[in-house]
Amino acid sequence: MSAFPIHIRCAPGLEAIVTDEVRALGLPAEALGAGVSSEGNVADVQRLNLELGCAQRVLVRVAERKAGKLDKLESKTGSIAWNKWVAPHQSLTIAVKSQRSRLYHSGAVDERVRRAIGERIGGWAPDGVSGARLEVRVQGDSVTYWIDSSGEALNRRGYRLETAKAPLREDLANALIRSSGWDRQTPLVDPMMGSGTLPIEAARMARGIAPGVDREFAFESFPTFEREAWDTMKAAARERAKDALPFPIHGSDRDAGAIGIATRNAERAGVASDLTLTQAAISAAPFPEGPSGVLVTNPPWGGRLGKGRDLRPLYQTLGKLADEHPGWALAFVATKGRLAGQVEGSEKVLATNQGGRDIAFYERGV
Ligand SMILES: C[S@@+](CC[C@H](N)C(=O)[O-])C[C@H]1O[C@@H](n2cnc3c(N)ncnc32)[C@H](O)[C@@H]1O
Repeated sequence: MSAFPIHIRCAPGLEAIVTDEVRALGLPAEALGAGVSSEGNVADVQRLNLELGCAQRVLVRVAERKAGKLDKLESKTGSIAWNKWVAPHQSLTIAVKSQRSRLYHSGAVDERVRRAIGERIGGWAPDGVSGARLEVRVQGDSVTYWIDSSGEALNRRGYRLETAKAPLREDLANALIRSSGWDRQTPLVDPMMGSGTLPIEAARMARGIAPGVDREFAFESFPTFEREAWDTMKAAARERAKDALPFPIHGSDRDAGAIGIATRNAERAGVASDLTLTQAAISAAPFPEGPSGVLVTNPPWGGRLGKGRDLRPLYQTLGKLADEHPGWALAFVATKGRLAGQVEGSEKVLATNQGGRDIAFYERGV
């Protein structure tokens, strides 16, 4: 099987974590801005989609061509074997990025590329929200074509159909847990769990449940897709997952509605039996008896302009909760250093963003 260049897109700041994830799958990885470059064959592309917990999208470089004019672009685009990647009559979304090129008019590039692909595959490819998604990157005379193999962003695992207030995206929750240094063998507690994303991601990681095992991917629509090989890969991943965890994961929230939401999300995620979910204020958050572990949480972030309730006491309570449990490490998310600073001894370890909002991960060791 031939190898293609692969681009794995992730939230900014998560490149090092995703690089580790890709290398752990036995593939080369080099961190880039908000992404990781790698290479591999079709099976590797499928495995990346299936296994990556902190990435958002896996793009495959279909081809590279030289073109400085629109006519050339159209004829060169038509020389690519699109029938491997786009099915006739499948809808096609094209995103054009042009830098330092005479092909700067993205509308014209879209039109020519679309026409060339349509002719090549013998079908008409109308613009659409579902179907194939292609990125055309033009840099000077070099044109590269990247097909999206993921479809919906990878953070959408399929279990989080309900959310409580201000949910943390699954890829960021996964990254926070990884960066906390949690060993997946000791207890974990989230005293402000909302829809349960952190406890659920933690349980799935410790069980070894592949993040993408329950969802569909864009590569399943590639004309060359072989369902049997993919089903075998997923079955092997399911086989590897542990049936249960020998240590506790606790989640709590003061909001009664959050408990129901987190419970139903956990059921869909297949880890409800691994979690103890309780309604409690942070000051009374239940901790398991026995060995210590990691306290991982995502407190409310507060308004962008400092409006709304003063959250400093809540962050102080979080610090106190950690103090009351010596031996427990602490990792949390905050938007503002001013709030994180209320947790004495915590240090910023990673800056990223969610939905355009700058956030950072903070930690305090034992
Ligand atoms: C940012 S949300 C957590 C979102 C969660 N990580 C998720 O992905 O859905 C913060 C949560 O803290 C809870 N909370 C706020 N103050 C609290 C307190 N004093 N005690 C317990 N929970 C509290 C809120 O009810 C809310 O669900």
